[in-house]
Amino acid sequence: MKLRQSPCAKLDTIPIFDRLISMPQLPDVPLDGLYGDLVMDHYRNPRNHASISDADVEAEEFNPFCGDRATLQLKLDGQGRVSEIGARADGCSIIQAATSMLCDQLHGKSLDEVAEIGERFRHAMKNGAGDDDLELGDLLALQVVRQYPVRIKCALLPLTALEEGIKAYRARPG
Ligand code: FES
Repeated sequence: MKLRQSPCAKLDTIPIFDRLISMPQLPDVPLDGLYGDLVMDHYRNPRNHASISDADVEAEEFNPFCGDRATLQLKLDGQGRVSEIGARADGCSIIQAATSMLCDQLHGKSLDEVAEIGERFRHAMKNGAGDDDLELGDLLALQVVRQYPVRIKCALLPLTALEEGIKAYRARPG
């Protein structure tokens, strides 16, 4: 299965020293309260942290500004529902927690339902969650990141990977 070819893959050809200069690490930000605690729990105990050898949906997204990366894999059952998940992230606490939280919501869902969750999550991160967003589950805790607008991208990076992976899966012939 082919991983999404990120435009940033070119960075692999840049000498490591130059890469360090061009990709400053952003410091982790303090996340307080119940939501902050939940984010830190997913960061410290990532769910579905595994690799699937025969995934149907597979994608990787890379943030060239910090060097952080999210890799997501889904295995579908005969009804087209998510039966197995592989989720890995390298980087800041937010991208790692967001990858864990997002994947935790996907068990048993069809790809249409996965896309719906994704749309709702993206909207909530950009505009704030509403009363009808309760079904986002632990993903709601990432609302705490909205106080650091520059870090919203960290929270959405795994979703971008997932969306690209689904797009590639649907575009596959046969
Ligand atoms: Fe890079 Fe968070 S600092 S994804």
